[in-house]
Amino acid sequence: MKRLVIVGGGGHGRELLELVEAVNGAQPRYRLLGVLDDAMPDADLLAAFGTRHLGPVHLLRELDAEYAIGVGSPDVRAAIDSAATGWGCDPATLVHPRAVVGGGVVLGPGAVVCALASITTNVRTGRHAHLNIAATIAHDCRLGDYTTLAPGARLSGAVTLGDRVTVGTGAVVIQGLRIGAGTTVGAGAVVVRDLPAEVVAVGVPARPRLPATGSAGTV
Ligand SMILES: CC(C)(COP(=O)(O)OP(=O)(O)OC[C@H]1O[C@@H](n2cnc3c(N)ncnc32)[C@H](O)[C@@H]1OP(=O)(O)O)[C@@H](O)C(=O)NCCC(=O)NCCS
Repeated sequence: MKRLVIVGGGGHGRELLELVEAVNGAQPRYRLLGVLDDAMPDADLLAAFGTRHLGPVHLLRELDAEYAIGVGSPDVRAAIDSAATGWGCDPATLVHPRAVVGGGVVLGPGAVVCALASITTNVRTGRHAHLNIAATIAHDCRLGDYTTLAPGARLSGAVTLGDRVTVGTGAVVIQGLRIGAGTTVGAGAVVVRDLPAEVVAVGVPARPRLPATGSAGTV
């Protein structure tokens, strides 16, 4: 059994606790030591999983355990991963037994694939890519590091996501498109053209949201 800690004790962290339970239910694999979080998570909610808050994130360096990051924000995942890598820690890659992962799929270290997510074939993800419940990824997609597919997000074939891209819940990206690093696609959007880096795009068809203009804004 591998020793494991979950970094992050909020809602997504508890989703990872569920996922670890499911993985161990299919085949005992991890000994869960507990949860690390710089804030104080709800002890009762963690106790329901038979686990507890161990302390702040930097304790990871002393634990001799693999880590999975239960945090939705790509930027926060990147920062935690950077620290953990510096401490010489190894991430766990977690795949729910009820996810569908096809042939030629390469998941990066620390990737998380939740229940009912489906990945067809010849897909590659970067480090700590998170594919939430019922997200779908078709053939030949490339997902960068710290990418997030929210519940029910859908990538058609040969889509490329830069590092730290988030595709919101229920959003759709049609085939062959590229989305630049750090961009967020809003919930329910339909992306039909490439998107640049570091924008928030919403709507059908998805368009980068214009920055708010203050009172001195241009006409
Ligand atoms: C797009 C998003 C990132 C914008 O967040 P935000 O910057 O806090 O935006 P606000 O809530 O302040 O809304 C700003 C404007 O954008 C609109 N807007 C927000 N999200 C939108 C969406 N998904 N589609 C269309 N319009 C949206 C709001 O109605 C508002 O319009 P208004 O100024 O005319 O009133 C966010 O709403 C979103 O969709 N996030 C994805 C959430 C998700 O998938 N969560 C899954 C968690 S597991």
